[in-house]
Amino acid sequence: MPQASLTINPRFAIGAVDRRLFGSFVEHLGRSVYDGIYEPGHETADEEGFRGDVLELVRELGVSTIRYPGGNFVSGFKWEDSVGPAAGRPTRLDLAWHSTETNEVGLHEFSSWLRKAGSELMLAVNLGTRGVEEALDLLEYANVPSGSTLSDQRRANGLHEPLAVKMWCLGNEMDGPWQLGHRNADDYGKLASMTAKAMRQLDESIELVVCGSSNRTMPTFGAWEHTVLQHTYDDVDLISCHAYWAESQSDLESFLAAGHDMSLMIEEVVATADAVKAALKKTKQINISFDEWNVWDIERFQTVDRISGVENWPKAPRLLEDSYTVVDAVVVGSLLISLLNHADRVSSASLAQLVNVIAPIMTEPGGAAWKQTTFFPFAVTSRLAGATALTPRLVSDTYETSTYGTVNLVDSAVTSDEAGTSVFLVNRSISSATTVTINIASLGDVAVTEAVAIYDEDIHAANTLADPTRVALRPIETTIADGVLTITLPPVSWAALRLTPVE
Ligand code: AHR
Repeated sequence: MPQASLTINPRFAIGAVDRRLFGSFVEHLGRSVYDGIYEPGHETADEEGFRGDVLELVRELGVSTIRYPGGNFVSGFKWEDSVGPAAGRPTRLDLAWHSTETNEVGLHEFSSWLRKAGSELMLAVNLGTRGVEEALDLLEYANVPSGSTLSDQRRANGLHEPLAVKMWCLGNEMDGPWQLGHRNADDYGKLASMTAKAMRQLDESIELVVCGSSNRTMPTFGAWEHTVLQHTYDDVDLISCHAYWAESQSDLESFLAAGHDMSLMIEEVVATADAVKAALKKTKQINISFDEWNVWDIERFQTVDRISGVENWPKAPRLLEDSYTVVDAVVVGSLLISLLNHADRVSSASLAQLVNVIAPIMTEPGGAAWKQTTFFPFAVTSRLAGATALTPRLVSDTYETSTYGTVNLVDSAVTSDEAGTSVFLVNRSISSATTVTINIASLGDVAVTEAVAIYDEDIHAANTLADPTRVALRPIETTIADGVLTITLPPVSWAALRLTPVE
């Protein structure tokens, strides 16, 4: 049986875990908003038309910051369309997803939903078809308390207090040829710098995220970050990373190593940011906002989901409605492990997305809401992750992947807080259970108060409308003897343990 051993020592800290690592993303795309979080006719809908069953699941998922309103959508979005009396709002054609946007749910409605969900707003501005002036207008509308035309308009529209939005994305995926207003790194860097400077003149307390690459395989990856940061180093706080993985895009062994790929991306972007820092002789450090990450079968979008035709602009079509399996959930768990292990340089992250669109939560109009398999590792990691990420001293057997070469069979992350220690583990072996021995002597006398896992004999099992609870968390056995905790992880599994001091 393959083996791994892990040593935990609370004195070896990576850094503080920013709660914003457990963020998500709601885009005006498909049934994310309409027939997702919002369905006025639904039996659980509240007075604003928001589904109560979905809100309950979002709270259980434990999402901190939610990025809004896109995504590709934002690059053609006129924010003014989405405020004021709902009946007078324009209906627009959304070019990004070839859909009709009615603007029935806009900035006010979404911020009210966020209050109910207990999450914080992260706003993206349109730097695709628009620029500095419109970004300033939105910032004035959202963050200025009163006394200017746009802040008073917000008050007249029913929001007396400013939204006080802290995190702002300077556009979306501007490196991607599919993006409305896509431009090269030099042109985007200049526009982002001008926009950031102007926005800070209006509100110096905001945190700004400049667009990094849409994924690590982009031909401009690395060079894009270098050029963009040369233009914006003084003006921004964070640079974004986006990445999606899918079993259909590689062999299963490589797919299971997605967390390894995410770690490489983070480390390469950190190296690039630090190289610009050195060349520009700066002391300030730029960190990462990994504001789109997930499993997503992009191939399916190319072949099934794409809508076209000048007369065909559906409202809230079923787009990007991936159905997630056990192996997808294990990969999502391993991606969270990678984020925790880079807590010193990743300050924020957004699981893309939240409801119906490549999402942990699914809904049926007039029907049920249910948890996809990927719901479980996210909810457990968000709930159990402590304030400090510890360095996992891990020695693991390895396996071969066609995409990344030799990769550890087991990966782990460890966090601690005043109340205890949490351990997150993944076994990437397709065929073997793996025994992990964890040296916990430094923790003193502790007991395992929670031990849960995701695994199944059918690694492609999924939760569906017909069978919404087919896959769920399972208890997993552990033993402790002489300061060593032993756990045997089934093939293709993810597990989380909570250790608390014995009184
Ligand atoms: O999350 C789906 C899409 O993926 C987003 O709109 C875009 O930013 C990315 O390409």
